[in-house]
Amino acid sequence: MKNLIKIGMLLSVLLPVTSSLAAPGEVATLREKTSIDQQKKPGIIPKVINSDIKQARNYPMQPPVIPHKTRNYEVNLNTNKCMSCHSRQRTEESQAPMVSVTHFMDRDGNFLAEISPRRYFCNQCHVTQLDTKPPVENEFIDMHAIMKQKSQTAQK
Ligand code: HEC
Ligand code: HEC
Repeated sequence: MKNLIKIGMLLSVLLPVTSSLAAPGEVATLREKTSIDQQKKPGIIPKVINSDIKQARNYPMQPPVIPHKTRNYEVNLNTNKCMSCHSRQRTEESQAPMVSVTHFMDRDGNFLAEISPRRYFCNQCHVTQLDTKPPVENEFIDMHAIMKQKSQTAQK
């Protein structure tokens, strides 16, 4: 009961704030201006990019995006389709890049003989890309662009 009262108090503080952000009936969502009781006509499902061309990484720690289709590639307890091409033993035949050495490390930094359990579910980090316009604009700026800007202003 005490907690309920606390939540009630919290809501009465928060609600006026949130409702003042968007004008009534004008919630900024991906549904655009579709009202809540209407179903928007779904857009066409974009194609997965299957170009086999590596994409630049946006920062050094970024998991590279997948440049090929992964439909029906199962990753579960019994099988890991990704490793049938990306494991050390299979790369000669598949010509796929080997999973990097970090994928063999446990959380204490020891190297295991096999892929580490924490790197087993590839799609947790690696994703395919869709051939479409992003619904929300991305404001990410590459570190190199920032450094270039800085050195240019420093020269002036
Ligand atoms: C049939 C073999 C095959 C399978 C299965 C496969 N890949 Fe690949 N993968 C490749 C090859 C070959 C490349 C090199 C680029 C190309 O040819 O598409 C690649 C490239 C990649 C890259 C890009 C690496 C980089 O440096 O840019 C990632 C990430 C990747 N694959 C992840 C995956 C994941 C995750 C799965 C499972 C869902 C998977 N792959 C399944 C063959 C495979
Ligand atoms: C927890 C996140 C995570 C998981 C899970 C993961 N990766 Fe990665 N992967 C990364 C990151 C981050 C990099 C880039 C830095 C590095 O090599 O560690 C990378 C790099 C790669 C590369 C490029 C290697 C190179 O030297 O160019 C391939 C290929 C790859 N991963 C495939 C896979 C496959 C296949 C799986 C599943 C068996 C997998 N990854 C699981 C995060 C992950």
